[in-house]
Amino acid sequence: MMDLKGVSVGFGAAYALRDVSVSIARGERLGIVGESGSGKSMLGLTMMGMVPDAARVEGAIALDGAQLARASERVWRRHRARKVAMIFQEPMAALNPLQRLGETVMEPLQVHLGLSRAAARDRTLELFAEVGIPDPEARLRQYPHEISGGQRQRVLIALALTCDPSLLIADEPTTALDAHVALRIIDLLVNLAASRQMALVFISHDLAAVARATERIAVMYGGEVIETGPTPQVLQDPQHPYTKGLLGARPGIGGETPGRGPDGRRKRLPTIPGTVPPLSALPAGCRFSGRCPVELPHCARVRPEPHRVSGNRIATCHLLGGRA
Ligand SMILES: Nc1ncnc2c1ncn2[C@@H]1O[C@H](COP(=O)(O)OP(=O)(O)O)[C@@H](O)[C@H]1O
Ligand code: SF4
Ligand SMILES: [Mg+2]
Repeated sequence: MMDLKGVSVGFGAAYALRDVSVSIARGERLGIVGESGSGKSMLGLTMMGMVPDAARVEGAIALDGAQLARASERVWRRHRARKVAMIFQEPMAALNPLQRLGETVMEPLQVHLGLSRAAARDRTLELFAEVGIPDPEARLRQYPHEISGGQRQRVLIALALTCDPSLLIADEPTTALDAHVALRIIDLLVNLAASRQMALVFISHDLAAVARATERIAVMYGGEVIETGPTPQVLQDPQHPYTKGLLGARPGIGGETPGRGPDGRRKRLPTIPGTVPPLSALPAGCRFSGRCPVELPHCARVRPEPHRVSGNRIATCHLLGGRA
């Protein structure tokens, strides 16, 4: 339903996304993983047609056959309302602290779908029930600060579902939550994708969360997708040196407490040495050169080609070989 081909997003001479190709089928759950600064949020915003004004978008973005890479804001808005919704990274920022939760969800139902106030209220109660909010009637009158982080995330999911999107993009939806709450939010998103035949793009730096939430994975580094494939295969048998590094940095994949140690405390994980360089300082060749432990002499200069490792697995590294 959504297909990005060779999409780049540039700011001046620097690229926040470079030559990204990903597609999402109806009802499919795709994970986007990578360290902070790898371009995950920018990819989510690109799929929403919400890149900053200063950005230059190249390549092809197709949504149910419509070509949107160079579409105006007016055209994007029409598609967004009915097809794509996003849960943004900052949960508190997305809710108006002075607005009751009921009004927050009723507003788009009235504005976008033209429902009457009474119908919007009924629909909000249904949505609250669908996302597992207990006592929905009481919640209508509450303000964001009166409920827990997990309940706020459920309200945001209900808000994202108001126009029945066929694609939901969730940017770090569990990062701010306690481990057991995070698990329940992941399971809610998986269940909603199944019951609504809704595609899900689950963005997270937490591999255990992505392992639980998704069927397919795209690993990002320096604004590029460097490895894709079915989630279990990529996590069990990573091909790209960066993915291997990420997994080495993330013990206990598939454990039931994403981002937490056995004591339930948030882990400071050992990471790949170095950090993602600023956009302007990324190497012209392989983006991972300079940090890669198995780098070849030409890696910094020559861009590696995507290589088809097997059926539906692709990785982009000189060690693996040529074009997919
Ligand atoms: N408005 C902007 N102008 C220029 N660069 C930006 C802008 N927004 C994000 N970036 C850059 O894009 C890169 C990717 O950022 P982001 O998508 O937020 O990463 P992630 O979500 O993976 O942490 C970063 O280097 C960031 O500095
Ligand atoms: S292309 Fe070179 S630098 Fe990049 S990941 Fe492969 S070996 Fe490492
Ligand atoms: Mg982000």
